[in-house]
Amino acid sequence: MRSFERQLSANSAELERQKREITEGSTGWESPSNIAIVKYWGKYPDQIPANASLSLTLTEACTRTVIKFRWNEKIDGPVITFRFDGEERKDFADRIGRYFSLLTTFMPWIRNAEFNIESLNTFPHSSGIASSASSMSALALGLCDIENKMYGKDPGENFYRKASFLSRLGSGSASRSVIPEMAIWGITASCKESSDEFAIPAPAIHEQFKGLNDSILIIESEQKKISSSFGHDLMKTNPYAKLRFEAAEENMQLLCKVMNTGDLGTFIDIMENEALSLHAMMMTSKPGYLLVKPNTIDAIQRIRDYRSNTGLAVGFTLDAGANVHVIYPSDQSEPIGNFIDSELKPLCEGGTIIHDRMGGGPIRLK
Ligand code: PMV
Repeated sequence: MRSFERQLSANSAELERQKREITEGSTGWESPSNIAIVKYWGKYPDQIPANASLSLTLTEACTRTVIKFRWNEKIDGPVITFRFDGEERKDFADRIGRYFSLLTTFMPWIRNAEFNIESLNTFPHSSGIASSASSMSALALGLCDIENKMYGKDPGENFYRKASFLSRLGSGSASRSVIPEMAIWGITASCKESSDEFAIPAPAIHEQFKGLNDSILIIESEQKKISSSFGHDLMKTNPYAKLRFEAAEENMQLLCKVMNTGDLGTFIDIMENEALSLHAMMMTSKPGYLLVKPNTIDAIQRIRDYRSNTGLAVGFTLDAGANVHVIYPSDQSEPIGNFIDSELKPLCEGGTIIHDRMGGGPIRLK
């Protein structure tokens, strides 16, 4: 068993002996999405990443989740009702039920709890933006909060670490969403505090990278047809997997260096290399598949041409889909914003662009 997991299991055995101070109440969290600069693609059992990743925590693309809970000794639960955008969703409730059941090792009280969950995303449903990172982290934060309320515990310094650990078990990338600004998840030689079990704040962020903008070009609004679990799984037989994991670690090391010195040009080179490598892995998997669309490639080309013509620091990254994340410093919002409007907007479905930026992490709702 890994060290933090061991600690959490010991705490959970202790909890079973403790008295509950309250037996019902509620909590609410708004948790953001994040975009990986160095990508996590490929994993081992228990959601352990095959390589370390580094991400930018966003501001606008969030999930807001309110959980009402009630302790009930008589049930062997958890019992969950779930409403998304005001509508009862049994399919989501079943999924959350499976996730919560997994967490009973660390939070035994979940078995005897009834949960009434209300959730919504602050970004449009049909935007092609994956909501697993923001939704899983909002749920995990809520559970950590409920546990503290129920047992009268102070949040303590491990609050976000535990929330990140639990988020990871729901969706790997969700582990990074609880961290403000930039997060590292997975063991890397570039950061000795790094862990496979939870994400930590990126140690040094030069002024150059503070408040980076992420304008998300919605090339395709449909939700992806190929799940990331399926993609991670295909890395087990991908002939280039070993080289990819080594390249990701090299990129982590270089990125951590330039984040310290403020070298935006190298940051962009690494970010673009990572985006293309992620999609190269998809294409070279067996079976191979293609998520980029002609307009994705057109946008990438236009961004690169604009950068070489103007010398401005703007680059792209991709998630597991066709949409393009345009990343640039906030002090260049004017010229780059004009370029996005005139050259990139026509490539987007319905002209949709979501303007987001680096953010301060999750917020507890009042
Ligand atoms: O967290 P998952 O299992 O949905 O995987 C996310 C994988 C990518 O979004 C493609 C990359 C990343 O690091 O976020």
